[in-house]
Amino acid sequence: MRNKWIVSIDDYRRASRWHLPKMITDYLDGGALDEITTRANRESLDALMLRQRSMVDLSDLRTDATVLGQQIDLPLIVAPMGMLTIFHPGSDTAVARAAVNAGSIFIHSAWAGCALEEVAPIAGDKLWAQVAFWKDPEETESYIKRARKAGVKTLVVAGDVGSSSKRERDLHHGLSMPPRPPVVDYLTTAMRPQWIYRWLTGRKMTYGNYSIDGQPLRMDEMNQWMAKNKNPGANWADFAWLREQWDGNLVIKGIMDPEDAARAVDEGADGIFISNHGGRQFDAQPATIDVLPSIVSAVNGRAEIYLDGGIRRGHDMVKAIGLGATAVMAGRPFAYALATGGEPAVSKAFKILHDEFKGAMGFVGKTRVSEIDESVFAQCNRITDYV
Ligand SMILES: Cc1cc2nc3c(=O)[nH]c(=O)nc-3n(C[C@H](O)[C@H](O)[C@H](O)COP(=O)(O)O)c2cc1C
Repeated sequence: MRNKWIVSIDDYRRASRWHLPKMITDYLDGGALDEITTRANRESLDALMLRQRSMVDLSDLRTDATVLGQQIDLPLIVAPMGMLTIFHPGSDTAVARAAVNAGSIFIHSAWAGCALEEVAPIAGDKLWAQVAFWKDPEETESYIKRARKAGVKTLVVAGDVGSSSKRERDLHHGLSMPPRPPVVDYLTTAMRPQWIYRWLTGRKMTYGNYSIDGQPLRMDEMNQWMAKNKNPGANWADFAWLREQWDGNLVIKGIMDPEDAARAVDEGADGIFISNHGGRQFDAQPATIDVLPSIVSAVNGRAEIYLDGGIRRGHDMVKAIGLGATAVMAGRPFAYALATGGEPAVSKAFKILHDEFKGAMGFVGKTRVSEIDESVFAQCNRITDYV
């Protein structure tokens, strides 16, 4: 699909299929087990209907918002995604540049393809860094030092990676370490020469965020590194320890339960990031939008709340903010665009969502993001279950 025909995030999803081997599109699109949670994220958003208001003066409509004291042009932030390099050699640098140009924030993944230090000069004060609690506390400590040195002011704790997920599409493709793809994958990959070309001529597929002797970790090395460092024992004591070490903002990602949200705030979290990982980890949990109201009530204004999972339209942003989120995050939409056309496509994805959000704000009769509240919901839908 040519770029000019792309007018929606779903167009980017379809277009990305022409640029990626099937095993990579499945890795990107897929979720855990039966993908029930991945689908639920979308279905629950779709089930909410908004209330159109008429004859509202929209001549001064603004989409800017404030997140942890920082002004952004729209309340949409790039969720952390590891190994963006497999979609396009521009990887994190391309997405970070597009995010900054859109007046947004880029969250750098703890499993990123590019080093934090490479992204920091591009993203400036619009960079948040994800941190994981590794088995060796010195590894975690040294990463916090790196973040501080890179000028990061907000850390995002990976709160939902202690257990192991099972993504069956990936298993069918033999996406293990080392990869053992079936013959059919070699054939479909051969039909994507532009991906092979980008891969051979661009950035190597490494986990650039970590290195051995100054060299970025290769995929097989990362596997060994993870086996050594993955920490199923990470718990609230680690979070409390980090709170003591870090005087910047602290956000925790992967919160799906009101009790956990309240605990995180008690432990000093500044932001609660509601996420089920886009359904990629645990397939027996609700859509994020469905748990948002109970978390808003548990947090009771003591921290900001963000949400991701299935955000594909500007009106999805209105729905999440209407139910109490300060801002929303999105993952796959930016990866689809990155795979399709690198940084310019990611910029366009931002523009698409920005324009749709602005349009939806107008239809619900709001001229400021801070005015978006439960009054945006139509009476006909199941929002009455919540408010
Ligand atoms: C390719 C890919 C890689 C991801 N890597 C990470 C990661 O490294 N850390 C993390 O916390 N979440 C990761 N996620 C989850 C996203 O941060 C986010 O929660 C999810 O994509 C939101 O759902 P959406 O894709 O429907 O927007 C990843 C998601 C995708 C699609």
